[in-house]
Amino acid sequence: MKDMAGPTIYLSDYAPPAYLVDEVHLTFRLAPEATRVLSRVRFRPNPEATDKTFFLHGEQLTLISAAIDGQPVTPEVSDTGLTCAVPDAPFTWEAEVEIAPARNFALEGLYMSNGMYCTQCEAEGFRKITYYPDRPDVMATFTVRIEGEEPVKLSNGNPGASDEGFAEWHDPWPKPAYLFALVAGDLVNHPDRFTTASGKDVELNIWVRPGDESKCAFGMEALKKSMTWDEEVYGREYDLDIFNIVAVDDFNMGAMENKGLNIFNSSCVLASPETSTDGNFERIEAIIAHEYFHNWTGNRITCRDWFQLCLKEGLTVYRDSQFTADMRSAPVKRISDVITLRARQFREDNGPLAHNVRPESFQEINNFYTATVYEKGAEVIGMLKELVGDEAYDKALDLYFTRHDGQACTIEDWLTVFEETTGRDLSQFKRWYSQAGTPRLKVREAWEDGTYTLHFSQMTPPTPGQPEKLPQVLPIAVGLLGPNGDEVQETTLLEMTEAEQSFTFPGLAAKPVPSILRGFSAPVILERETTNAERAFLLAHDTDPFNKWEAGRMLAKDGLIRMITDGAAPDAAYLGALQATLADDSLDPAFRALVLALPSEEDLAQTLFDAGVTPDPEAIHTARERLLEAMAAELEPLLTRLYHDHQVPGAYSPDAGPSAARALANGALALLSRRDGGALAAQQYAGADNMTQQLAALTCLLIAGKGTSEVQAFYDQWQADRLVIDKWFALQIAYAAPAKAAAVTEALTQHPDFTMKNPNRFRATLGALAGNPAGFHANDGAGYRLLADWLIQLDPLNPQTTARMCSAFETWKRYDADRQDLIRAELERIAAQPGLSRDTSEMVGRILAA
Ligand code: PHE
Ligand code: ZN
Repeated sequence: MKDMAGPTIYLSDYAPPAYLVDEVHLTFRLAPEATRVLSRVRFRPNPEATDKTFFLHGEQLTLISAAIDGQPVTPEVSDTGLTCAVPDAPFTWEAEVEIAPARNFALEGLYMSNGMYCTQCEAEGFRKITYYPDRPDVMATFTVRIEGEEPVKLSNGNPGASDEGFAEWHDPWPKPAYLFALVAGDLVNHPDRFTTASGKDVELNIWVRPGDESKCAFGMEALKKSMTWDEEVYGREYDLDIFNIVAVDDFNMGAMENKGLNIFNSSCVLASPETSTDGNFERIEAIIAHEYFHNWTGNRITCRDWFQLCLKEGLTVYRDSQFTADMRSAPVKRISDVITLRARQFREDNGPLAHNVRPESFQEINNFYTATVYEKGAEVIGMLKELVGDEAYDKALDLYFTRHDGQACTIEDWLTVFEETTGRDLSQFKRWYSQAGTPRLKVREAWEDGTYTLHFSQMTPPTPGQPEKLPQVLPIAVGLLGPNGDEVQETTLLEMTEAEQSFTFPGLAAKPVPSILRGFSAPVILERETTNAERAFLLAHDTDPFNKWEAGRMLAKDGLIRMITDGAAPDAAYLGALQATLADDSLDPAFRALVLALPSEEDLAQTLFDAGVTPDPEAIHTARERLLEAMAAELEPLLTRLYHDHQVPGAYSPDAGPSAARALANGALALLSRRDGGALAAQQYAGADNMTQQLAALTCLLIAGKGTSEVQAFYDQWQADRLVIDKWFALQIAYAAPAKAAAVTEALTQHPDFTMKNPNRFRATLGALAGNPAGFHANDGAGYRLLADWLIQLDPLNPQTTARMCSAFETWKRYDADRQDLIRAELERIAAQPGLSRDTSEMVGRILAA
């Protein structure tokens, strides 16, 4: 089955590199079918190394020549690299290789996108460019010369000499090869400047294909805000004369933090009111910040090995979420982050792909750029900050930056700066990095003689390879409300370290209502016997915005679960509480929009499975639709008022205020469309002058079973804009009736604008199918089959994107025996493909092993 299954790499096998590099010189002679890469590398033996073998990684390279200290040598070349006899002293390695960027569809290494040369090296792509120790603990300065006729030629660092046929770049900051980047093409720039806190003048550019110039202004503002924020909040200044961002259409991920030359998926940087939604704007701002923040957390201080990926990713996600919280609404950001965490990370953590925040083994590192490493990795940092306090966090970070600048570090280095600055022992806390799975936190309460007690117990279910778990440190933020709704105990942090632990609150006049896990202070599943009356009380009175929202969500969920399992009617108490919250104009419209949104079908399936019930995707869909109809019927007058009160006059702005108003108005519109057959939506569609309004209206029409002419009109209007056409593909599939979803998807894969070579288009189509649970899981298995067919076709071209999308199947053990059989058959069919990539083979193998 595992043709290409690679060897397993273990954290415990880490050994320092045999040779270190001081300097790298690279010359690129660009040609689509035959680019020549000349390298000159200064090596010296590493005194710390035990194994002295000289090995350079290299894959899919044609070696033209090699020399050591000017003398030609004939290395021993394999599929993965080369070895060669070398002096036991510093020496200069020179090599010339040939590669074919035009035939690189994996989008890793040097490849072409719409005639533009670009690179993607993280994690192990540099070895597809030339022979080199392609590991993050080998850091060196790079000097790069690019020869070619392309008008724009960029690399890392500061610009050096250039003329028509060449450009030179020098990066003074030592870096690992995964941060190398090169771009060459017919590009135009949106320029700006930034003066750092210490007065250094920096040139800023966003480079795009001609025609996209008008979509750069927002990204540029986001970049400048990020630079200022990192100076003010973390004391981190930018450290080169120039910072370049390039937009690329064909990109496997969101963006990449290459030193001084960030490369972005064009969907994560290009923005305009006409073509981007409010959600797109917010995401673009966050990703620009994320990549910029990597300059210190990732680049100046990097990872010793790929097991330490969360060192840079968890911290940088944490930093970008702090940034968004500061730029926009902090409570809304927290609630949105928890929704995503539960949808992606809890799903992963409770299935066959569960792994530690710091994994201990892998076959293909590309498969570990996951919600667990990124989002749970960020949660772990948030908990650490909660536990030590804001001031201690700042002190620890200052020490981290001064002590480790220029180094390749580990999680141990990271935790040590906290231990040293706070005097705390973090050995138990460290389990957050070494135990997979989402802890279940159970709570019981007792009330006696004015003393209120919370009894907690924690348990983490087994995950692949980890049958037994030890108790973890859980920061539990708790507040107490009195019977009249006043807060009698403000937020206090309980620190749970035992499997079972109790906390008391003496001196209370009456039995309080607890608000537990405020701000979602730990990434756990909270289990508590409670009543809907209490949830409604918290929804009305809790001072913690997260728990206020959570109470509403629990109410909605409880009613939905009863509708799904017992065919119950929509819960009148829920509708009443919802009405009261939505009508409260003192609440942020963005918060109310979140309260209005029901738990997703996927969330409900996960909840049912956790409760020991086999989820039926169709029944979930039907029940949820029934509740939406009831909400529309019950709340119609209020929804009409909210819709009209939250129309934003004047020119479009993507700022938090107007976005919030649109979010609430469009939430109301979605329900109103169930009453008026889409009349109001059609009106909004016709009058929309921005993508948020246009797309929301079109979505409503599709849900109402209308919109055929609008779908065509939308295509006609936007056919020249590939990012908008991605939305057009995704929308039709995401909102297709379950029974038709696979057929709609299949038809769209036959559309002339469909191409599997562009990851955005592939995800907009097949990813949208996987995101329509009732459609994907339709019991004829058509959804499974279609996805598997396309994954099989894509794998030989683009293993990374194929492997990522296999996670659509990761929940298969939740479902009934018939569906499991259908999915197993598809997984086995994929696994049996001759020459299956290592990426996909590892993913399918892990999922099947469930
Ligand atoms: N390091 C990138 C980020 O998180 C993500 C990425 C990983 C991009 C691998 C490309 C390839 O910002
Ligand atoms: Zn990152």
